Amino acid sequence: MEGLFHTERGAPLAILGQPDMQTQTLDNPLIIPKVLSFLTYRRWEAKVKGLDAFPRAEWPDNIALLYYAYHNMVGLGTFFIAILLTAALALWRGWLYKSRPLLWILMLLAPFPYIATTFGWMTAELGRQPWLIYGLMRTVHGASPRVSEGNALFTLIGFMGVYGVSQYCFCS
Ligand code: HEM
Repeated sequence: MEGLFHTERGAPLAILGQPDMQTQTLDNPLIIPKVLSFLTYRRWEAKVKGLDAFPRAEWPDNIALLYYAYHNMVGLGTFFIAILLTAALALWRGWLYKSRPLLWILMLLAPFPYIATTFGWMTAELGRQPWLIYGLMRTVHGASPRVSEGNALFTLIGFMGVYGVSQYCFCS
């Protein structure tokens, strides 16, 4: 999730970069030195375990997707905070309603919390793999062989129907 492949003291926080699974490094990294150690342990020189501290069989299946989901979520969250602080300041100083670019940005931001939520959900789900219950039960052992694909699809369509009808009732 943080793109820390190797256990380090004074571990950096990666702001940008692309994980390379072959070399187990971040390509084109933009990092802030020691900040991951501080955020995790409140000590700049603390040792943070990287992926290499865990057996390969316990690594998440799709580390790159996990990394991107987490970084997109945090990036969006940081952007929301910056824009909302600017908008609050503009409202306080009385120029919010006259600033067309800021009003456009605020309007266009509407779908992005849903996108950030989806990235957050992906972070939680991909990040806990291969465990269903950490250290006790693997996801592969949690499948229900008696529930068929058709059952699952039928339930999904049922839920979509219930949500669709309730949206229609409450929104119209
Ligand atoms: C400001 C930067 C943000 C940080 C540092 C952050 C951090 C995190 C972390 C560490 C997790 C994983 C939690 C875990 O499973 O252990 C997480 C999950 C999640 N985040 Fe964020 N997040 C940020 C912004 C956002 C935003 C803006 C949204 C949505 C609008 C969001 C929605 C979620 C959701 C839905 C989950 C999954 C929760 C779950 O299923 O357990 N996050 N976030």
